[in-house]
Amino acid sequence: MKPIRYERRKYTQGPTPIERLERLSQVLGGPHISIKRDDLLGLTAGGNKTRKLEYLVADAIRQGADTLITCGAVQSNHCRLTLAAAVREGLRCQLVLSAPETGDYNPQAGGNHLLFHLLGAEQIEVIPADGDMLAAMEKLADSLREAGRKPYLIPVGGSNEIGSLGYMACAEEIEQQAWESCTPFDYVVTATGSGGTQAGLIAGFLARQSSAKVIGINVSRDRASQEAKVQELLARTAAEVGLQATIHADVVQCEERFVGPGYAIPTEEMVEAVQLVARTEGILLDPVYTGKAMAGLIGLIREGRFSQDDHVLFLHTGGAPALYTASELFLPKQG
Ligand SMILES: Cc1ncc(COP(=O)(O)O)c(C=O)c1O
Repeated sequence: MKPIRYERRKYTQGPTPIERLERLSQVLGGPHISIKRDDLLGLTAGGNKTRKLEYLVADAIRQGADTLITCGAVQSNHCRLTLAAAVREGLRCQLVLSAPETGDYNPQAGGNHLLFHLLGAEQIEVIPADGDMLAAMEKLADSLREAGRKPYLIPVGGSNEIGSLGYMACAEEIEQQAWESCTPFDYVVTATGSGGTQAGLIAGFLARQSSAKVIGINVSRDRASQEAKVQELLARTAAEVGLQATIHADVVQCEERFVGPGYAIPTEEMVEAVQLVARTEGILLDPVYTGKAMAGLIGLIREGRFSQDDHVLFLHTGGAPALYTASELFLPKQG
């Protein structure tokens, strides 16, 4: 592998903790489950995008950018964290949001959307659900360039070969922690959406010649399209860092069965998973990503996918602000 010469900003002090989930493991009668607390990463309210942004924002600063432009859903954690990184760096930030597929855009929406306003996004442009987010970002960038400013575009989810470096670094961190605690992980389970988290982890484990297998739990797509997406990004990331390892297609494993009717649409399994983890471990998951990912882990355990002796690491990728927009799912029913 080429020595990695990327610049990196640092938004978190030290590694995020890995905690054993003894009570959850006991209730499920399954393998040894641990959790990697990436919900405790730095920047406003933490989550996986903080790791990607350490590399993306360093690249933006190296190029002399004064404004970050990115895009996502109305409750995008990625938009919240890109904006938070911009605030931290004294940059400006503009957001393109795609309206929900079901229902109208609510300009009064709470959660991440509230934080976009609180953190002071310079501009928020809302486009229809089937609109072209990249074209909308390019348009914003063109008008900034005309005004003599220097925009830097970050793709949806921060998922390109630079953002993925953040999760290569996370794989390195996990291996180091596993080494220190004498507990190598057989599996790492993560939510997978734009794919940078899964692709970065796989690249990082391959670079380390680790035997940890990564299982992605889809939050939006079917299996074939999600696997193709992650494979493509993995190949680009591997080429970027000059990874020598042979990459077999089957290193990318994605489970589609826990998506339910669609992205951000609640499922019974997600509600059960969020409640179970809250009530056994006091840890909060979110309804869109980590709740479905945990539903996936629970489902795979019940199907007998793991042996009793396996060590499984669940990656908590964050997302808590969205939990507070879904109170109707968790409060007792009225009447
Ligand atoms: C909380 C949370 N978890 C997981 C993911 C999925 O990560 P990725 O887009 O890298 O696949 C996201 C993406 O937005 C997220 O916000």
